[in-house]
Amino acid sequence: MAIVIIRQDDKIELWKKALLTKDPDLEVYGYQENHPKEKIEMALVWKHPNGALVDYPNLKLIASSGAGVDFIIEDETAPKNLPITRVVDDMLAKDMSEHVLAVILSHLKNLDQYKINQIKGIWKPMQYHRISDFTVGIMGMGALGKELATDLVKYGFKVRGWANSEKNIDNVTCYAGASGFDDFLKTAQILVCLLPLTDETSGILNKKLFKKLPRNAYVINVARGGHMVDEDLLEMLNNGHLSGAGLDVYHQEPIPKEHPFWSHEKIQMTPHYASVSDTNSVVPQILDNYERLIKGKKLLNEVVMHRGY
Ligand code: GLV
Repeated sequence: MAIVIIRQDDKIELWKKALLTKDPDLEVYGYQENHPKEKIEMALVWKHPNGALVDYPNLKLIASSGAGVDFIIEDETAPKNLPITRVVDDMLAKDMSEHVLAVILSHLKNLDQYKINQIKGIWKPMQYHRISDFTVGIMGMGALGKELATDLVKYGFKVRGWANSEKNIDNVTCYAGASGFDDFLKTAQILVCLLPLTDETSGILNKKLFKKLPRNAYVINVARGGHMVDEDLLEMLNNGHLSGAGLDVYHQEPIPKEHPFWSHEKIQMTPHYASVSDTNSVVPQILDNYERLIKGKKLLNEVVMHRGY
């Protein structure tokens, strides 16, 4: 019984240490070290290279170390019919909420524009906005969306949520499914995408949607680059319908140097680091699932394959 960690960043040792600190008896390997493939029963993955999940004859569980699992589902070489689990974590949700709040406030108080002006040596006071005048619409009301909605209400925003199914959150007007979509969009002065990336949601941030937002709306995408139609965003920013965008995720990461987002004054970019799993916070649930796997018990946060999340 052993675990393999597969990820392409420099965090394999960090994860290994966190797992072993919690349970020193575990057998854990990084995928690039020599390891007995037939002993591996759980793969703990984050944006693994395509093909890295083959050749594990006894693999029983693919565990994402983040909230998203799209990169596993998209890997056609990954073994099918194995359970996939995702991380649902309070700290991940709080970090996301804080990031989105920072982006919203930076926009309301013109901090993004002031930074550009500062570099150019321009002194130009600009009218700022107040939280109480703003309605934020959140697409995707899972753990992250709910946390954000609740926090934004506390700060005094008017908050609307949109999800696949009915939700009930204090002081948040929730809309569900296709029938509630247009009503949800028409009041969203700030639109935040926190949807999982699935066949249904791919390309959902497009011209048709943007046109349904009020004029001067601001769009924040902290979900996946695949939700965004980049040319449509650029068109709607350039024709003045949208006032700006805060983006953390892109079709290709790192985003290519020649991409027009880099130099666009109305786009605030961060490098897919709005909220990342803290090993100490999420390792307990990952090990809980490993134990459940061994004991044949129901797994936590298992992906429903036909939904894609
Ligand atoms: C981050 O993008 C995650 O899915 O956890």
